[in-house]
Amino acid sequence: MKKGRVFSGARPTGRQHIGNYLGAIQNYVGLQQTYECIYCIVDVHALTTLEETHLLKENTREMMLDWLAAGLDPEKSILFIQSHVPEVMELHTLLSMVTPLSWLLRVATFKEKVKAQPHNVNYGLVGYPVLMTADIVLYKADTVPVGEDQLPHLEVAREIVRRFHYLFGPTFPEPKAKLTTFPLVLGLDGERKMSKSYDNDIELAASPEETTQRIMTAFTDPARQYRSDPGHPEVCNVYSLHHFYNREQLVEIAEQCRGAAIGCVDCKQLLADAVNEALVPFRERRAEIAQRTGHVDEVLADGARRAHAIAKETIKEVKEKMGLP
Ligand code: TRP
Repeated sequence: MKKGRVFSGARPTGRQHIGNYLGAIQNYVGLQQTYECIYCIVDVHALTTLEETHLLKENTREMMLDWLAAGLDPEKSILFIQSHVPEVMELHTLLSMVTPLSWLLRVATFKEKVKAQPHNVNYGLVGYPVLMTADIVLYKADTVPVGEDQLPHLEVAREIVRRFHYLFGPTFPEPKAKLTTFPLVLGLDGERKMSKSYDNDIELAASPEETTQRIMTAFTDPARQYRSDPGHPEVCNVYSLHHFYNREQLVEIAEQCRGAAIGCVDCKQLLADAVNEALVPFRERRAEIAQRTGHVDEVLADGARRAHAIAKETIKEVKEKMGLP
């Protein structure tokens, strides 16, 4: 007997990086054991910023390949693309009728977007949390694994659900956030979290050579100008990545850095070797899946079919409750 139903969504950012893996994907994979899981690539949400729409197809595919190679299992979970189950857009419209505009205008991420893209403050951007609510409740999910940045959206989702229940009677589980406990994974610039958009990431699917080259560009302790300068691992970004990939040698690496027994290049090489070693099984699986013609498309079609079976029941119930003839 499973504990409950998980839903989570992620925007189609293309090839995933180790920050995505450590922060989200690994967690998704683990939850498959104890929950009924539904994982979705939210391509409609991506349209709210209208960035690189010509890449949406490719990015979605590459991302799903990474998910599969990392251990998301279509036998255990429903894996699909948001727009393939169009009922979510129907539910978005219906839920928008019970959502006071004031709730949406005060969401911090909305205000940030207004600042970031003043030339494109579209209606869809205001409705972002409503669409997210529709994602979750269309599948009657009760548990939503997300990072801390999504908590305000989850709060709106819960408020919408409560208001719907007040108006039309109990219908959905009140979705609870399940916080990813993983610490922040810094990017190669050592300043911001790892993100494709900051170009400071280490891709899971890169070749070992590319990975090593990339890690060699990382910023380290700025006080360490010369090879003979003593280092400060506690402020070094490369050292922070050793936490994930060289757990056993952490103390040793720190000592060698402080005593200038190893230089930053040596330290990066150690990291690159460990990352490459950790990614061997992932890369093998990815190559194997990529060469199975049509496999990703089949997984997606099957996921959409299973998701649709749930969605159509919910939409029927919602329409009836809202009095639509
Ligand atoms: N807003 C989420 C993000 O940017 C993505 C998302 C869309 C989502 N719908 C969701 C997350 C439903 C959890 C549940 O990361």
